Amino acid sequence: MGDIVQQFDHCSEEPTIVPTTAPRHHDYWNGFYAGADRDRVPEEPSAFAEWVDQQLPAGHEVVEIGFGTARDSLYFARTGRQVHGFDFAESAVANGNALARSRGLSSEFALLDLYDDEAVTRVAATLTATPAVRAVYGRFLVHSLEDAGRANLIRLAASVLRGGGGELFLEFRTGKDLGQEHLFGDDHFRQFIDPMVVELEIEDLGGAVTYREEGCGLAVYKTEDPHVARIVAHFPEGRH
Ligand SMILES: C[S@@+](CC[C@H](N)C(=O)[O-])C[C@H]1O[C@@H](n2cnc3c(N)ncnc32)[C@H](O)[C@@H]1O
Repeated sequence: MGDIVQQFDHCSEEPTIVPTTAPRHHDYWNGFYAGADRDRVPEEPSAFAEWVDQQLPAGHEVVEIGFGTARDSLYFARTGRQVHGFDFAESAVANGNALARSRGLSSEFALLDLYDDEAVTRVAATLTATPAVRAVYGRFLVHSLEDAGRANLIRLAASVLRGGGGELFLEFRTGKDLGQEHLFGDDHFRQFIDPMVVELEIEDLGGAVTYREEGCGLAVYKTEDPHVARIVAHFPEGRH
């Protein structure tokens, strides 16, 4: 993962080096899943995963981006789905693969950094090389990303889903969650984004949002009841 970007200044045309914050985000999450913190994440699937599974036809595969402890990926695998999980934290990938192996599940977990444009293009090409109807799934990922990562997430979903009949499922904290109780602390990056922004970005890439819900009571964790949005979208052929 690169930790710098090159920026060109109009006047001098000399490149200047601007540090990005992406390595800090990576180090936070890699440390989180390598340490005791990961045990604080419930083992059972999220309410969002159960909601998604209920509406996914049998045989649809799941591509989970930002799977963390793999609680939802392993749940989808237990319901008989082929799962491909991607995360930028090496510790999350190692844990996910170890858990899948020990439970006899055929899910595959691999590294992908959504700030790496070329890697996103490569993963999209690898997935689409094998025909299947897939859901692209991201829970509590969107608010963990800066704009460039979110743009690549939607680009990846568009490439994987366009014309294929599968859907994009996202759940994330909204602007109304800013300043509320956060049991995992506020020492790491979160962006509390307006769901309309995400919807417009999906539409910009030819997607169509088929479901949007916002509110509390959807992602309760102990005493925390965040205001979240759920978005479902698809990418019809010929719309981009
Ligand atoms: C808040 S956690 C959510 C984990 C899991 N989906 C859940 O609901 O328990 C955010 C996840 O996104 C991953 N993530 C953050 N930025 C990423 C990036 N640039 N590329 C890939 N994964 C990323 C983190 O490593 C972490 O697993």
